[in-house]
Amino acid sequence: MTKLFTPIEFRNVELKNRIVMSPMCMYSCMDQDGKITPFHMTHYISRAVGQAGLIMTEATAVVPEGRISHEDLGIWDDEHIDGLKHLNEQIHNYGAKTGIQLAHAGRKARLDSDIYAPSAQAFNENSKTPTAMTAADIDKTVEAFKEGARRAKESGFDIIEIHGAHGYLINQFLSPLTNQREDSYGGSRENRCRFLSQVIEAVKTVWDGPLFVRISTDEYAEDGNTLDDILYFAEQMKQQNIDLIDCSSGGVVPASIKPFPGYQVKRCETIKQEASIATGAVGLITTGIQAEEILQNNRADLVLIGRSLLRNPYWAKAAADELNETLPAPKQYERGWK
Ligand SMILES: Cc1cc2nc3c(=O)[nH]c(=O)nc-3n(C[C@H](O)[C@H](O)[C@H](O)COP(=O)(O)O)c2cc1C
Repeated sequence: MTKLFTPIEFRNVELKNRIVMSPMCMYSCMDQDGKITPFHMTHYISRAVGQAGLIMTEATAVVPEGRISHEDLGIWDDEHIDGLKHLNEQIHNYGAKTGIQLAHAGRKARLDSDIYAPSAQAFNENSKTPTAMTAADIDKTVEAFKEGARRAKESGFDIIEIHGAHGYLINQFLSPLTNQREDSYGGSRENRCRFLSQVIEAVKTVWDGPLFVRISTDEYAEDGNTLDDILYFAEQMKQQNIDLIDCSSGGVVPASIKPFPGYQVKRCETIKQEASIATGAVGLITTGIQAEEILQNNRADLVLIGRSLLRNPYWAKAAADELNETLPAPKQYERGWK
């Protein structure tokens, strides 16, 4: 039976439990160079000491103009590798595996430079209008995801996640709300999926480890992608041998969402059942019992914990205590763990 504290393997990478630190932007590269800072080391390593099975970095930009803010982490240059390598080594010391979320913000970049998107349409009245990408821009961006994946491999990551959610660049291609293109990247859902498919194929030329994709499973807007469209994208990803779909929602267009505990789990479960693919559940999962319900009822394979892990780096320990499970301590903490 799938349980919170049973291990799971993705292509020879074993996670010791199903608890994933959800990717969360920390906007903390104060030198605006995309490099790991002492803050990032403390932030991620403390959650590994706290025994999360997988630590996923925040959205990490594959090109400078793909950052959400000037303070985002980056992987657009070989100069980023050293810091990321050091981070990976330290996280691995505590038995956690590492993942990197490769990202491009598209029209949601809040930068001084020009910004790019499938169509020249601003997110809202406070956002810049992006430049519509040419075919050459698209090719260059696909290549940047590939180069990001190569650097991720050289940095020692165990897992790569492609950020296709929350209305960022890949999501902007996927959604009919943000993609008005009239070429082979726009129009039908086959065409809207083309950019994501090409990114996946490009990444796979340099990466044979586990590959996850995060998507927005609900756009909370009329004329947005339907559940049927999302299932189509899931099927495409399955055919491309994606190992897990990380099921989030929203962010494509301004919309008011009223989240409640586990609000994104239902679509996560549907995708898992309908597309027969592993899924990750995320969103207001705050207790061990809630996580266990999702896993034991076969509604997801992993649970991603965001804000609860910000509040408590030892969330895994609290969940284990709540469920009366034994969670091995990091060896330095053995005397005080019970
Ligand atoms: C501060 C903060 C930063 C976030 N940054 C990212 C990000 O970089 N990439 C991403 O996919 N989601 C991001 N998210 C969304 C979280 O990964 C997660 O999906 C969301 O917070 C819901 O989970 P929770 O209720 O457990 O916090 C962020 C959320 C927060 C609170």
